[in-house]
Amino acid sequence: MKVFAINSSARTGDVSKTEIVLNWLVQGMQEEKADVEVVNIHRKKINYCKGCFNCWTKTPGKCVFKDDMTRELLPRFLECDLFIMATPLFHYTVNAKMKTFIERTLPMALPFFKLRNGVTTHPLRHEPPPVVVLSVAGFPEMSVFDQLSSYVNFLYKDRLVAEIYRTAAEILAGQMTSQKIQAIQEATIQGGRELVKTKKISPETMAGITRELTTFEKMAPLGNLAWQTCIDEGVNMGQFQKRGMVPRPDSIETFMAIMRFGFNPQKAGSDVYTIQFRFSGQVEGDCHFSVQDGAIEFQAGAAKDPGLIIHTPFDVWMDILTRKADGQKMFMDQKYTIEGDLNLLLKMGEAFSR
Ligand SMILES: Cc1cc2nc3c(=O)[nH]c(=O)nc-3n(C[C@H](O)[C@H](O)[C@H](O)COP(=O)(O)O)c2cc1C
Repeated sequence: MKVFAINSSARTGDVSKTEIVLNWLVQGMQEEKADVEVVNIHRKKINYCKGCFNCWTKTPGKCVFKDDMTRELLPRFLECDLFIMATPLFHYTVNAKMKTFIERTLPMALPFFKLRNGVTTHPLRHEPPPVVVLSVAGFPEMSVFDQLSSYVNFLYKDRLVAEIYRTAAEILAGQMTSQKIQAIQEATIQGGRELVKTKKISPETMAGITRELTTFEKMAPLGNLAWQTCIDEGVNMGQFQKRGMVPRPDSIETFMAIMRFGFNPQKAGSDVYTIQFRFSGQVEGDCHFSVQDGAIEFQAGAAKDPGLIIHTPFDVWMDILTRKADGQKMFMDQKYTIEGDLNLLLKMGEAFSR
């Protein structure tokens, strides 16, 4: 099977979620011996269709432009057995580069009017390939793809063989060790295998690909903190992710959320302990967490019998958490003090290494 995939994301590598998900799908297809070509069209020259309709009249089937669309992309699109269109979701639909590609497929159609299921269409000059649409979005709800889905279903009708939509895709970057993400990766690879074998993706596999990663309630507090940290530090989100920056909590609630997120169950192993924080200064109050069987539980307030209590100004601990300050040095300088088992401080450093 000859597969032609185009990716319209402006980002590349491990910061492009479109590329990450497309690579998984392609891996599955290649495992089934498909001949897959992937082209990132962001770097290709594709002029805007100027609506001259020469491709319908003076030079039937041929566009007036000589660019990457006429030289390379349209011929490959027409000769493949399966076409994959991978795009980030921009303003609830395909991004502009992908839309430009779609508009430039006009030479494929004939000018005449034809009724199809009661609506006007143009018959096609060439038999186009079956289409897979793949898109990734920042928001967590599946309904974010409703407009795109409606559009591509109308556009490709029964040639549309699969729609692969990944919500909350920004979480994919830098979280590859998470079990949920590994399961999504495996399901997407399986989707690629199935597409080659049956030209469709089974409902079970699709459920695995699209499984919920997060909800507004879980994503928004951390996401908002991350954006605020970017604004405060004058960095963009790419730099924030590349530098492994940590969002700076502004309350005990957001501190607990960030700590939960940073917990690495593998590193915690079989340790069992409870650590309490007693914050002073800008934010005052207590919270504590307990580690048991590789799981963590955070609660506001004091613990019953903590192995360690950390007495610290809130700002000092947030400087340590966001790596603005060195924890050991701050301890030596007595910027914070501890009560209880010093070893637990070291264990905590290991368990929150994510
Ligand atoms: C101009 C622009 C518009 C966007 N519009 C939406 C949107 O409507 N809904 C959404 O959930 N995410 C939206 N996003 C977020 C992207 O879909 C998301 O970051 C995606 O992971 C980008 O894919 P990439 O990493 O391959 O570039 C938008 C991003 C940009 C830059």
